[in-house]
Amino acid sequence: MRYLVTGGAGFAGSHIVLALLDAGHDVVVLDNLSTGHRQAVPSGVKLYEVDLLDAAATSAIVAQGPWDGVLHFAALSLVGDSMRDPFHYLRQNYLTALNLVQSCVEHKVRKLVFSSTAALFGGPERSDPVPATAPIQPESPYGESKFMIERVLFWADAVYGLRSACLRYFNAAGSDPCGRAGEDHRPETHLIPLTIDAMLGRRPALKVFGTDYPTRDGSCIRDYIHVTDLADAHIRALGQIDDRSVTYNIGNGQGYSTLEVIQSVERISGRKVPWEAAPRRAGDPATLVADSSTLRKETGWTPHFDTLDRIVETALIWREKHPTGYGI
Ligand SMILES: NC(=O)c1ccc[n+]([C@@H]2O[C@H](COP(=O)([O-])OP(=O)(O)OC[C@H]3O[C@@H](n4cnc5c(N)ncnc54)[C@H](O)[C@@H]3O)[C@@H](O)[C@H]2O)c1
Repeated sequence: MRYLVTGGAGFAGSHIVLALLDAGHDVVVLDNLSTGHRQAVPSGVKLYEVDLLDAAATSAIVAQGPWDGVLHFAALSLVGDSMRDPFHYLRQNYLTALNLVQSCVEHKVRKLVFSSTAALFGGPERSDPVPATAPIQPESPYGESKFMIERVLFWADAVYGLRSACLRYFNAAGSDPCGRAGEDHRPETHLIPLTIDAMLGRRPALKVFGTDYPTRDGSCIRDYIHVTDLADAHIRALGQIDDRSVTYNIGNGQGYSTLEVIQSVERISGRKVPWEAAPRRAGDPATLVADSSTLRKETGWTPHFDTLDRIVETALIWREKHPTGYGI
């Protein structure tokens, strides 16, 4: 099979590229390298350095089919930035997806898998796992932009028969267990790499935003899903969309608190993580955990990296071996 991966030089995309190659498929990457890394694209994989905002250039790549599927990871994804510059986020994420989806329709692509997000649900006032059927209430332009793309995909299916899988990730984490890829966002905002870097002395003490939440230890609880498990879900989702579109929430289904992440890094590394309590951040829900039961039931997917320690271990190995990330 032959797949086009947008954003394949980024964190999640580069791990899915590896999974597709491991499964024996051919892969082409489209990425403008705005937040991704050339070094994250395995040698031998064709990388088109193209901005999806450029409709003609996007269409020219999609025209190089046939593709058995397109996987769309490329996006801006910093919630805080989206609050500071909402129109930029809405424009970038929506128009880039619209260009891609329209090209897919024009060039007869039949399947597309889209990286959606738990940010669609805003801050649900609930502590039980969130199913894909939960009310959509984005609390940021980032979350809103992802919902707009889900609607584009809805109409692309209804009118043109382009089947899609919208995978609403909770928190992607970890790194390739064989050490071929890892997490290197600039700036880094994700808790596990930040905690590891604080432990390694590569940044100041970690700030724990809120220690008075109604949770077991007062810190926020989140659901961490290993990128290799995420990759597996993408491949399984492709198998589900021959004749219908699907939407799945994807997470481990188990929540871990910020303090538990710190403890996990300390347990695995044998070193202390310097941290300090900071005030709560506006809009941070106390608990956000995925109900992935539909994905499990319909595709047989189950997370392999099913404990926080297993996820943290892979992240730690990669960050220790790559003190400057991809080295730029
Ligand atoms: N990482 C997570 O925990 C998480 C959670 C929920 C959803 N997501 C979604 O998953 C996707 C991947 O996330 P990530 O963490 O790998 O992000 P990332 O920033 O590492 O990867 C995004 C990639 O897209 C590329 N890109 C951005 N804009 C582009 C454009 N206009 N044209 C071409 N390429 C462009 C970047 O260069 C980068 O390589 C995003 O859509 C994100 O919203 C991620």
